[in-house]
This record gives sequence, structure tokens and C-alpha cells, in this order.
Amino acid sequence: MRRGAALKRQPVVTIDGPAAAGKSTAARELARRLGFTLVDTGALYRALAWAVKEAGVAADDAPAVGKVLEKTTVDFEGGRVLVNGRDITAQLRTPELGMLTSRLTRLQVVRDKLTPLQRGLARAGGVVLEGRDTGSVVCPEAEVKFYLDADLDERARRRREELAATGLPADYETVKAEVMQRDRQDMERDLAPLVRPEGALVLDSTALSPEAVVERMLDAVEQARCCTRS
Ligand code: DC
Repeated sequence: MRRGAALKRQPVVTIDGPAAAGKSTAARELARRLGFTLVDTGALYRALAWAVKEAGVAADDAPAVGKVLEKTTVDFEGGRVLVNGRDITAQLRTPELGMLTSRLTRLQVVRDKLTPLQRGLARAGGVVLEGRDTGSVVCPEAEVKFYLDADLDERARRRREELAATGLPADYETVKAEVMQRDRQDMERDLAPLVRPEGALVLDSTALSPEAVVERMLDAVEQARCCTRS
């Protein structure tokens, strides 16, 4: 957490962690309670993956992916995600697109497109950024950084529930294998791998309700505000 700089602006809060640790739910509620803007960086990466899939380009063909990205704009508008002006929010959360996204995030050209965009969104402060590298790479200077984790079994259970709720029932072992594969891909990549950012507060949500997670986060934000207030 950064001290000394008197808060002329609201803090930047980052939340990183593995798939299905509860980041999205916590980030959404934390942003709402603080009156901050939510930046769901996974949605931005998924949006690029959607564009690559639409173009029919292979995920490991970096030059071709780069060409697609040159022609692709991604915008957030009131919680909706627009690709080249088209609202594709409803198509972002399928496991298939998640897998493709995870493969694409290994490419420099992909991270080069989104990292500056995310920094721009954070510049004014008063934002909650949620993802895999928001506290380690995008905003290492953020005033408050969290690393939200949970046991693999619990994360697989939550992901299965989430999928069932969106009309995509799946069997537990399949979901668990997918979560494990996503972990491996996100943690073992060379570029911006998932790590616990330096100075991050580590929260284990395995036995915590979503409300309890948010309460702990609010306490930490309040503490940081007190420390940095002039
Ligand atoms: O959080 P999510 O499931 O929407 O993320 C989709 C994929 O994007 C996941 O494999 C991790 C990757 N990602 C990333 O590499 N960096 C981020 N800041 C956010 C997501």
C-alpha cells in the first residue's frame, strides 16, 4: 500500500486470484459499496478472444491475432462490453471462451493491447480492478491490493453452480479438471503469470461468505484511506 501521497483522488483497488475464487462477486459488491467504477479485466480479455474467434484465427498464430486486434475496439458501457460497438456481454462467460481467452493471454500482442487500456481506466482513481495481474503488472502502485484464493474443490463447486445457473449444467469432475487446467495456464505462462502481488492482502474465501469477504475488503480500504489521508 502506498503511503505518503496524500489522497487527492480516491484509491485504486486491485483484486487478483485464480478462477472461481469469488473475485467477480466480491469486486462488484466492493465497487458498489465504495461507489467506485468496476473494471472486470477478464471481460476485456474475453472480449478480445471473442473477436479472435469470430475472425476464425488460431490462438497460437500471434501475427494473425495481432492483425485482428488492430481492427478491434473494446469498450465498457454501464457494465456492458462492446466489441466494435456490438454488445457481446451475454456471450462472454462460456467455458469454451474462457479456455480460448486463457490461451490468448499468453501472447504479448494481447497484453500490449489491454494493459495500457486498463491503466487508463484506473488513472483517475476510485476504481476496483479485478483479474489475474491487476496488482502485479497493471497497477503495482495501487493503494490497496488483494489476492483472493479458495480451495480447488470449493472453486470447482462454485464454478459448477455458476454454470448451472446460466443453463450450462456440467459434471463436477469435468468442471474441476477445467479449473485446474485454467490455473496451470494462468500460473505457468511467461507473461504476467498469476502471482500474489507484492504487498497484497491474501484472503482465503473457502469458508467465507461473499458478504464476509467484502466486509474484510472494506476494512482494508478504510484502513488505507486513514493511512494516506492528509
Ligand atoms: O476472470 P476470467 O475467468 O473472466 O478470465 C478469463 C481469462 O483471462 C483467464 O484465463 C485469465 C485471463 N486473465 C488474465 O490473464 N489477466 C487478467 N487481468 C484477467 C484475466
